[in-house]
Amino acid sequence: MQRLAVGVRSLYPNGLAVAGLVLTTAVSLPVRASEVLAREHNCLNCHHVDRKKIGPGFRQVAQRYAKHKDAAPQLADKIIHGGAGAWGPVAMPSNPVSKEEALVLARWVLAMK
Ligand code: HEC
Repeated sequence: MQRLAVGVRSLYPNGLAVAGLVLTTAVSLPVRASEVLAREHNCLNCHHVDRKKIGPGFRQVAQRYAKHKDAAPQLADKIIHGGAGAWGPVAMPSNPVSKEEALVLARWVLAMK
């Protein structure tokens, strides 16, 4: 019993390890959720992460908008309504996603740079 208490105390010297654990969970969960969303909504039928498919690679998108601070809501809008001209003449159709889902997906794409 005594030894266990010491072990736990040295594992979490000042709560930092616990905070780190909570942070990692909070950060990685939405990312995984976004990939599920992307699959559910067939984004990956037209997009690869690393290279062009029918639409641009998500990493290319992230790199292009890396310096645009309003990119997330703008891309979310485009994800909902579709459109052409940013990457070529082929249009993205509108997608049946909610505003919240579109924003989660836009942030997920933008995080790939
Ligand atoms: C039927 C094919 C298709 C599907 C399905 C599709 N996209 Fe696209 N997407 C495209 C094409 C084509 C473009 C390039 C449009 C352009 O040049 O303006 C594009 C562009 C984009 C862009 C960049 C927009 C810009 O203005 O730079 C993002 C972000 C994006 N798609 C995310 C998604 C997400 C998220 C989904 C799923 C909800 C999705 N796409 C589903 C074909 C598709």
